Amino acid sequence: MNEIENIRVNASESYDVSIFRDGLDSCGEMVRKVLGKCRLAILTDDIVDALYGARVMDSMAAAGLDCIRHVIPHGESSKTIGNVMEFVNLMADNHFTRSDAVVALGGGVPGDMAGFAAAVFLRGIRYIQIPTTLLAAVDSSVGGKTAVDIAAGKNLVGAFHQPSLVICDTATLETLPPSVMRDGFAEVVKYGVILDEKLFEEVSEPPVKDIVHVIAGCVSIKRDVVAEDEFDNGRRQLLNFGHTVGHAIELLSDFRISHGEAVAKGMVRAAMMGPVMGLEDCTGAIESVLKNYGFDTDCPYGAEELYYAALSDKKRKGDSITVVLPRGIGNCDLFRLTGDEFRLLLKKTENQI
Ligand SMILES: NC(=O)c1ccc[n+]([C@@H]2O[C@H](COP(=O)([O-])OP(=O)(O)OC[C@H]3O[C@@H](n4cnc5c(N)ncnc54)[C@H](O)[C@@H]3O)[C@@H](O)[C@H]2O)c1
Repeated sequence: MNEIENIRVNASESYDVSIFRDGLDSCGEMVRKVLGKCRLAILTDDIVDALYGARVMDSMAAAGLDCIRHVIPHGESSKTIGNVMEFVNLMADNHFTRSDAVVALGGGVPGDMAGFAAAVFLRGIRYIQIPTTLLAAVDSSVGGKTAVDIAAGKNLVGAFHQPSLVICDTATLETLPPSVMRDGFAEVVKYGVILDEKLFEEVSEPPVKDIVHVIAGCVSIKRDVVAEDEFDNGRRQLLNFGHTVGHAIELLSDFRISHGEAVAKGMVRAAMMGPVMGLEDCTGAIESVLKNYGFDTDCPYGAEELYYAALSDKKRKGDSITVVLPRGIGNCDLFRLTGDEFRLLLKKTENQI
């Protein structure tokens, strides 16, 4: 294991996020230190299992931690309550108790499901996140949001439940398909725009030199935001920059446009809204960095379509919608708008693309 970055998150639970390169074989020891002797139920997907399942199981066994494993097919369509029920039934059949724990091994899909299973099994047991995608490393593994999808929408059933430890070995990112890695960079750019100009500059021209440092930068931002607003009633909503329009685009494309690509388009659209609201125009800077990663930032949908798709977003409150707009790079704010104001902003930025 080379350089290791440890970030302490202080939410309703306090825990470490350990980021390093090459050390997955020590994950058992790390878990044992935090949880003590217990049994573990690992939730992973078939691709991640084939790559890393045996190494993780061996490391846990070497640390004296007995494991069971549940493997789901990869992809968002597995993020169902039915698959979570299979997993909790497996734990129940194996007589898991509240001293035992769950391990999420993989990207945001196994991460969100394992976290949700841990939140509801026996009214809450401990869990560990081992993220293996860039998106999971910088975003979904930290902060305690867990969920599954239902027919009415993504992530509509879930719970807040913080992990006990996050173990991020950046060597695992080296097996990611380039498109999945790129999706993660949309979130990295997002962190730079919302709160960290230096990070924005550091990642502005790929390839990134020090991925451990970049992930640590993103996690530090998420730590600060979560410490201030764990339950997403205020400042945490800054993390939605680009996501209101991004989610609408994902929905309208029937999820053929990936999350990262949709967020990239959403960030550019939000940046365009800034000057309409009298804020600094950061569109060029954001667009050019996203283009360096190969994102197509054009939006194929009209203002009205986007408006109606965005109305179904779970982050909407009553008649109002909160959007995140940049005042400058590294400096974003929340703006609460009425539905009509948001519609007008979409309309006024429609022909700029
Ligand atoms: N909880 C949160 O705060 C939060 C935040 C953002 C996103 N999310 C959720 O995260 C999910 C998306 O996450 P994701 O993009 O990581 O999806 P994912 O878990 O489906 O992973 C994407 C693909 O990469 C593969 N993969 C994972 N690790 C790999 C590796 N190291 N090498 C090769 N292939 C690998 C997976 O098998 C999968 O096919 C969505 O469900 C989203 O709702 C949650």
